[in-house]
Amino acid sequence: MTKELENKVALITGGSSGMGRATALAFARKGAKVVVASRRVKESEETVQLIKEAGSEGIFVQTDVTKAPEVENLVRQTVATYGCLDYAFNNAGTEGVVKPCIEQTEENWDFTIDTNLKGVWLSMKYELLQMLKQGSGAIVNNASLLALRGMKNYAIYCASHHGILGLTKATALEHARDGIRINVVSPGAVETDMMNRIYSDAEVKAAFVEQLHPLGRICLPEEIANTVVWLCSDDASFITGQSISVDGGATAQ
Ligand SMILES: NC(=O)c1ccc[n+]([C@@H]2O[C@H](COP(=O)([O-])OP(=O)(O)OC[C@H]3O[C@@H](n4cnc5c(N)ncnc54)[C@H](OP(=O)(O)O)[C@@H]3O)[C@@H](O)[C@H]2O)c1
Repeated sequence: MTKELENKVALITGGSSGMGRATALAFARKGAKVVVASRRVKESEETVQLIKEAGSEGIFVQTDVTKAPEVENLVRQTVATYGCLDYAFNNAGTEGVVKPCIEQTEENWDFTIDTNLKGVWLSMKYELLQMLKQGSGAIVNNASLLALRGMKNYAIYCASHHGILGLTKATALEHARDGIRINVVSPGAVETDMMNRIYSDAEVKAAFVEQLHPLGRICLPEEIANTVVWLCSDDASFITGQSISVDGGATAQ
């Protein structure tokens, strides 16, 4: 039986864990070939193995998204292996150092902004150069609830994710007539390594997500993955330059 996304190629930055891994597997289950881009070898190769177990194929291209030559190489390797690039999920990111603005350092500003904002810009730049040659493509950038509102101790993180929204809107307009759509998914609190680094105490984490999300529970990485695959699909063919919140109602409050 032919799968919905057979012959399609999806690139996922930050594919070694969390929402990136879940999205890699969601694309694989629909038949897409998946390119995993991240820094850790063991975890990324595990994702590739899971892609195969899900019935598709994939490769790992070790990539630091803050470095232009590595991102350029990532897209080059994608096209050399699979011939094209249909979808990209620019998801690699860091929480940086969580503390008040006046205690932050220039080092953490550079680290967080480089990873979360420059990384998305560089990824889009090289993905778009390929998609323009094809005349088609769909990109989803991962932002956050904190791209839409503030939270104490997250000023730099908030700035990086608010920046992703502006970057996405402007770039989506630049390519609206090129057959390329670019959107953002803005998750609430998601059950990933990042969330567990920030909230090492399970009870504190449960209380936090209970008050944050009107739905009263944490978001699963698969719930983000399903939204990303849908945004890339033709079912979302008239959506571009948008942020879709997957936050259990948090921004409705
Ligand atoms: N968890 C949440 O509650 C939540 C909510 C809203 C938004 N987000 C955002 O969602 C994104 C994914 O986070 P997650 O929650 O899934 O956390 P995660 O499991 O910690 O995943 C982060 C991913 O980013 C990759 N990464 C980090 N720096 C990188 C770099 N310089 N180059 C390439 N890859 C890099 C990591 O891979 P390597 O270490 O192998 O490079 C890892 O695969 C982040 O942008 C995060 O800010 C998270």
